[in-house]
Amino acid sequence: MGILDKHKVLEKNATLLLALSFAVVTVGGIVEIAPLFYLENTIEDVEGVRPYTPLELAGRDIYIREGCYVCHSQMIRPMRDEVERYGHYSLAAESMYDHPFQWGSKRTGPDLARVGGRYSDEWHVDHLRDPQSVVPESVMPKYGFLENTLIEGEYIQDIMATHRIVGVPYTEEMLENGQADFLAQADPDSDYDGLLERYSEDTVQVRNFDGRPGVSEMDALIAYLQMLGTLVDFSTFTPDASR
Ligand code: HEC
Repeated sequence: MGILDKHKVLEKNATLLLALSFAVVTVGGIVEIAPLFYLENTIEDVEGVRPYTPLELAGRDIYIREGCYVCHSQMIRPMRDEVERYGHYSLAAESMYDHPFQWGSKRTGPDLARVGGRYSDEWHVDHLRDPQSVVPESVMPKYGFLENTLIEGEYIQDIMATHRIVGVPYTEEMLENGQADFLAQADPDSDYDGLLERYSEDTVQVRNFDGRPGVSEMDALIAYLQMLGTLVDFSTFTPDASR
């Protein structure tokens, strides 16, 4: 009973209880947080993850500007219902070049972390123009205006340089060719070898995404949507438990 009697003292003295509670929480906090300062990296290296191409990066900016994240998450949790619906759960590495990340917290619409390749470009054009034409009960707004705004990527180099400041490994060569790569990705008749060489032969998709002449905001947005979740080959991926 000795120990319980001592505990009574604590329970009857609010100030002491508060001070000791504070001490307990502090120790717990330090134990949880301190080790993170000594790890060089908490993100597992995963093969295939690369920085966004200039066109994808522009598409991502349009995604943010239009507030798509208000209704869509990009973070598949490791629960069975999510994995069966959307695919392999999201890896930290898959959003390591996202500044800011687009995990989202609201799912009025489906998660988009692996939407790349799930639909054709034409489907995306129809869906963005008029979501209700393909999914009658959809509450998603219309974004047809995106195909009427042509863009040339004149600022893309600056945007890439900004991402480099926060840690995205864009090389000098990538920056210099930023605008050329931007235009090349939406034009299958262009000389896009350099683009594939700088980013990836396997995961960079070169197409006229909206099917219309010129590079529109629609092209950029669809280029971005079509690459989401396609970088990592999950048929060969095995988590590295040693990290
Ligand atoms: C008001 C909420 C809302 C906003 C904002 C919104 N969406 Fe949606 N989205 C939905 C809903 C609901 C669905 C499911 C029905 C459908 O397919 O239209 C959906 C479906 C989708 C799908 C199909 C996903 C799948 O797996 O079937 C894509 C792709 C998509 N949205 C992209 C976007 C993009 C890109 C934007 C921003 C330009 C956007 N959405 C903005 C609500 C929204």
